[in-house]
Amino acid sequence: MRREGQTTIAPGTVIVRDLAFRYPPWRPGLAPVQALDGISFHAEPGHTIGIYGTGGSGKSTLCLALNGIVPQATGGTIRGEVMIGAWSTRTHPIAELASRVALVLQDPDASLIGRSVEDEVAFGPENLGVPPVEIEQRIETALDRVGVAAYRSRRSSQLSGGEKQRVAIAAALAMQPAVLVLDEPTAALDPQGSAAVAGVLRTLVTEKRTTIILVTQDPDLLAALTEELLILDAGRVVRRGTPREVFAHGAELRRLGLTPPPLANVAEQLNAMLETNFTFLDHPTAVQSLTDALRKSPLALGDPTS
Ligand SMILES: Nc1ncnc2c1ncn2[C@@H]1O[C@H](COP(=O)(O)OP(=O)(O)OP(=O)(O)O)[C@@H](O)[C@H]1O
Ligand SMILES: [Mg+2]
Repeated sequence: MRREGQTTIAPGTVIVRDLAFRYPPWRPGLAPVQALDGISFHAEPGHTIGIYGTGGSGKSTLCLALNGIVPQATGGTIRGEVMIGAWSTRTHPIAELASRVALVLQDPDASLIGRSVEDEVAFGPENLGVPPVEIEQRIETALDRVGVAAYRSRRSSQLSGGEKQRVAIAAALAMQPAVLVLDEPTAALDPQGSAAVAGVLRTLVTEKRTTIILVTQDPDLLAALTEELLILDAGRVVRRGTPREVFAHGAELRRLGLTPPPLANVAEQLNAMLETNFTFLDHPTAVQSLTDALRKSPLALGDPTS
């Protein structure tokens, strides 16, 4: 925690207030694209916020608004406010915001430029003026964490999609940001790679109190990692709450084109058939809830003596 101006606010605090954004028109004469509208949320250090929404709902635009690229590099019209600590992303230079917010882009090819993996990872800390000895340590730790240490000297252009995605995550980790924004970081990863990323994010939260904003199309990952989940549709937050609260609205999510975690669907069907109130999202909780319910109700087990 440090003092910024008159108030004490941690650099990892993210405040988004009534954010609306329009990209400039593609061609003169066309209407501007309203990508975000009326978005508000608040994340303290150590919190993980999940963003879930269909294609074109504004997820990537929201990520870019968190590090100042929107609107500083894109142009367009912005309303409302995005604060990283006491810094407004509307006016604070992007280069300085990078010392607090690291963004893992949806497309790793957009952030990697074909250098060696170690150079890709060193790039961010070098720009932040981190001393070379420390950069070396950060490269090692970051590559190790995401399981690509063996590719250290290889060119990033010679890696698979999943490997590139891991390198892009390592590059963000090496910046040791107060706020880590990840835009579909596991889209190209196999289940093992996805689990490794989930483990890294959990460690960052518990050990470094990193604030994490996670966009993903993986409902199980959202259920496992996030405290608050925002559902975006056409640039607006149409539902928010804990993953349990949000995923209890299966029909609404499916109407939006989104899929709840498979076990949330099981809970929903049981609730409809048995008039129960199951809200489990993961395997251990499902087993526990069902065992408890069956123990309490011998009838439900079809007890032949009853
Ligand atoms: N540079 C741009 N200029 C104009 N419009 C844009 C630009 N980038 C995105 N858009 C539009 O803004 C809206 C939100 O796009 P965004 O990329 O934020 O969606 P998304 O939820 O990340 O989608 P996806 O799941 O496909 O990644 C879409 O209508 C898109 O066409
Ligand atoms: Mg996107």
